[in-house]
Amino acid sequence: MHSRPRVFSGIQPTGTTHLGNYLGAIRNWVAMQDDHDAIFCIVDLHALTMPKAPGEVAEGSLRMARTLLAAGLDPERCTLFVQSHVREHSELGWLMQTVASYGELSRMTQFKDKTDAAAAGQTKSGSFISAGLFTYPALQAADILLYDTNVVPVGDDQKQHIELTRDVAERFNNRYGDTFVIPEHRVPAAGARVMDLQHPDRKMSKSLDSPQGTVELFDEPKAITKKFKRAVTDSDGEVRFDLSAKPGVSNLLSILAAVTDDAPEGLADRYEQYGPLKSDVADAVVAAVEPIQERYAELDDDDVRDALRLGADKARAIAAPVMDRARVAAGLLV
Ligand code: TRP
Repeated sequence: MHSRPRVFSGIQPTGTTHLGNYLGAIRNWVAMQDDHDAIFCIVDLHALTMPKAPGEVAEGSLRMARTLLAAGLDPERCTLFVQSHVREHSELGWLMQTVASYGELSRMTQFKDKTDAAAAGQTKSGSFISAGLFTYPALQAADILLYDTNVVPVGDDQKQHIELTRDVAERFNNRYGDTFVIPEHRVPAAGARVMDLQHPDRKMSKSLDSPQGTVELFDEPKAITKKFKRAVTDSDGEVRFDLSAKPGVSNLLSILAAVTDDAPEGLADRYEQYGPLKSDVADAVVAAVEPIQERYAELDDDDVRDALRLGADKARAIAAPVMDRARVAAGLLV
C-alpha cells in the first residue's frame, strides 16, 4: 500500500503539556516523521466529551499545535491537523458506533475510571457524564481507520482502545466486505511512563492535582530544577533501577535515560547518591525543553493556523476516499 508504514496518533488539546506528554509521546512523534508516513491529530472532538468553557477548546488546539511545532513537528514532513477540521471523523465515528457493541464500550476501563471519578466528585467538570464519553472509543476507531493506519503509537493506557479499534474494523470488514486496514498498537520505547515526582506510583497526569510532582514543558528552568530536587525518593540511599522497590529513584533514572537516549540500568551505576542524580536529571531536562520554549516564543498564531490549514488539506485528501469506501460498503445510498 504505502511504502513507509503509516502511523497515526492523537493528543487532546486540554490542559498544559507536561514532561510525560513530551517524553512519552511528542518526542517520539518528532522522531517518526522521517521513517514513517506520519499523521498526527489534535483531537478536539474528544476533548468535548468532558464539559468545556466556550473558547477553551479552540484556544487549547492552537496552543497544542504551537507546542507540537515548537517541539519539532514539521508540517512538510508529517501531517498535523485538528480533528474537527476534517469532517469525515464525525461521519465515520457514527458508523463505528453502529459496529461497536454496548457491552464492549461498557468494558472500557478509561470510561469506568472517568465515570467513577465524576460520580465521586473528583473531576473539575462535576458529575455530568456525557454519552460522548461512552462512545469515545468509536470516534477514536474512526480517527485511526480513516487513514488506512498500520501503526498506532500510544501509551499502554490506550491499549484497550486500540484493541477495540481492531475488533470493530474486523467486524465491519466481515459484515460488509474488506474496507479497513487493521492497525497495530505500539508502545513507544523510551519514556513511555513518566511518573509523578511526588507520587512515583502514579503516572504524571494532566488531571492529577499535583503541581510539585508535574514538570510542565513551559516551567521556568529554575522551577524545573526545584521540582527535581524535591522529588520523592526513599531512605535506603542506593541508586538502583528497581521499579517496584524504588519507584522514585527509578523514575528519575527513566527520565534521565529518556532524555539522554541511554539505558536506566546502566545510568544507575554512575551514581552513588541521590543528590547528583537529581541535579543531572534536572540539567538534562532543562537542556531538552529550553529550545522548545524558545521556538514557541518565536511562533505566532498565523504560522500555526497556516500549518494547520495545510495539515487539514493533506488529511482530508486521505480521509475522504476512505470515507466513501465505508459509505458504499455499509450500503448507504450514494
Ligand atoms: N484517546 C487518546 C488519549 O486519550 C487520544 C486519541 C484520540 C487517539 N484518537 C486517537 C490516540 C487515535 C491515538 C489514535 O490519549
